Amino acid sequence: MGKELTIKPGHPLQGRVVLPGDKSLSHRALLFAAMADGESVVDHFLASGVTRVMVNALGQMGVPVTVEGDRLTVVGRGWQALQSPVEPLHCGNSATTIRQLAGALAAAGVSAVLDGSPGLRRRPMDRIVEPLLQMGVPIEATGLDQRCAPLVLHARAAGRRLAGVDYTLPVASAQVKTCILLAGLAAGGPVVVREPALSRDHTERMLAAMGVCVERLPVAAGVAVRMEPPAASLKPLRVRLPGDFSSAAFWLVAALVTPGSDVVLEEVGLNPTRTGLAGCVAGDGGDIRVMNERLVAGEPAGDIRVVYSALHAVHVHGGRVVRMIDEFPVFAIAAMHAAGRTEVHDARELRYKESDRVALLCRELKQAGASVEEFEDGFAVEGPCPARACRVQSHGDHRLAMSLAVMGLASSGAVTVDGAEMVAESYPGFVGVLQSLGAAVELREGLQHA
Ligand code: S3P
Repeated sequence: MGKELTIKPGHPLQGRVVLPGDKSLSHRALLFAAMADGESVVDHFLASGVTRVMVNALGQMGVPVTVEGDRLTVVGRGWQALQSPVEPLHCGNSATTIRQLAGALAAAGVSAVLDGSPGLRRRPMDRIVEPLLQMGVPIEATGLDQRCAPLVLHARAAGRRLAGVDYTLPVASAQVKTCILLAGLAAGGPVVVREPALSRDHTERMLAAMGVCVERLPVAAGVAVRMEPPAASLKPLRVRLPGDFSSAAFWLVAALVTPGSDVVLEEVGLNPTRTGLAGCVAGDGGDIRVMNERLVAGEPAGDIRVVYSALHAVHVHGGRVVRMIDEFPVFAIAAMHAAGRTEVHDARELRYKESDRVALLCRELKQAGASVEEFEDGFAVEGPCPARACRVQSHGDHRLAMSLAVMGLASSGAVTVDGAEMVAESYPGFVGVLQSLGAAVELREGLQHA
C-alpha cells in the first residue's frame, strides 16, 4: 500500500539522531562476507528494502545469512562456493545490488539471471557488461536496447580464470568499480580501474581489510586503483558500521533551513569520498561542526552538530559532484533557502539514478513554487524561494521522497509527499526521527507510487 506524508512548517528541530548503518557499507559487508571463508559478524547493519534484496539473492545462492535487529551474520565458504541460483535473482530497485552481484557471480563462474523492478530495468547495465566481457565473462544484457537488465550470465568452464584488465570508466562510479574488482578476484592477472574522479572507496578499504592487495596508483589525470588477485581466500569481517552520511544529509539540511534548529548526528561516516555536501553547505554559510573524530570499521567517522544558519548560493561542478552524488535532491532544498543563484553542472549522471533526478527534482520543486532551471547536466535554483503549500510526488525514489519531506519543514504551508513508502528503501526510521526532533508530521495510507 502507498503512503502519503504531510509535513507542517513552523517547528524547530532539536535533539540527537542515531543514524542507520551506512547503505554502501552494508551492501559490501553482506556480499563480501558471503565471498569470504568463515563466519562474519557485522553490527549496525542497515536492514532495509535495498539490503533485503541482496540478503534474498544470497540465500538463493546457498549462503546462510541472518539479520537480527541490526546484527548481520553471514557464513561464507569462499566466492568459488557461490551456487548458481535456480530462479532469477530479483534485485528490486537496487542498482548497487545488481551491479555488485554481477561481479561476484562472474568471479564464481556460475550461471544466473539478474533482474529487477521496472525502474531498475531502465538503468544502464552496459557500463558493467563491457568491462566484464573484456575480462572474458560470458554475460549479456537482454533488456531495453540490449543495455539493461535482465542480465544473463553463463557458466564459465571449470578451472578457467578470468583475464586481468586495465579499464577506464568514462564516468566515475563506485558500483562499476566494485563490480570489476569483485570479478577480478578470479582473474589470472592484475586488475586496474581508472576513474575521472575518485568515487567512494569503501570497496578498496574493505577488500584490503579482508587481506587483498589493493593500492592507489599515481597517475597524471584522474585516479586509478590496482588490485592483485589474492592467492588466499578473503578473511571474514568483524565490524560495526558507521552511520550513513547520505541519511545524515537530510538532517543536516533540515536543521540548516528550519529556524531555531540545533541537532547532533551521532557516529556518522565521514569518508571524504562521501562528504561533498557538508563542504558545500559549510562554504554556503552553514554552521556545521564535527566532533569526536575517530575510525569506525576502517572508515573516518564523527559526530556532527548542525545549527540553523543563513545560507548563500554556491556553484557545484567537476570532481565535487561524485563526492555528493546521492545528495543533490536534498542539496536543492538547501538551495531554495540560500540567497542567490545556486548552480549544479557536470551532474548528468543524476539522470540515471533511482529516477531521473534532474528532470523530476526540477518538476517537483516547480510544483512547490521554486524558481528552478533545468540543464542537460544539472540545474539552477534562485533563492530564497521557500516552498508553498503543495502536494509532490516521490516518483518511486527514496531520496526524492525524503528531500521533499525536508522541504516541508521550512515552507509557507503544509507539504504532502505521495509515494512516501519509498523511504523504507534506505531509511525505515525516517518518519520516526522527524517526529522525535519535534516536526509536525502525519503519515497516512495513500496511493502507491506509479
Ligand atoms: C553506490 C554508488 C553510487 C551511489 C549509490 C551507491 C555504492 O552509485 O549513487 O547510491 O554503494 O557503490 P555510482 O557508483 O553508480 O555512482
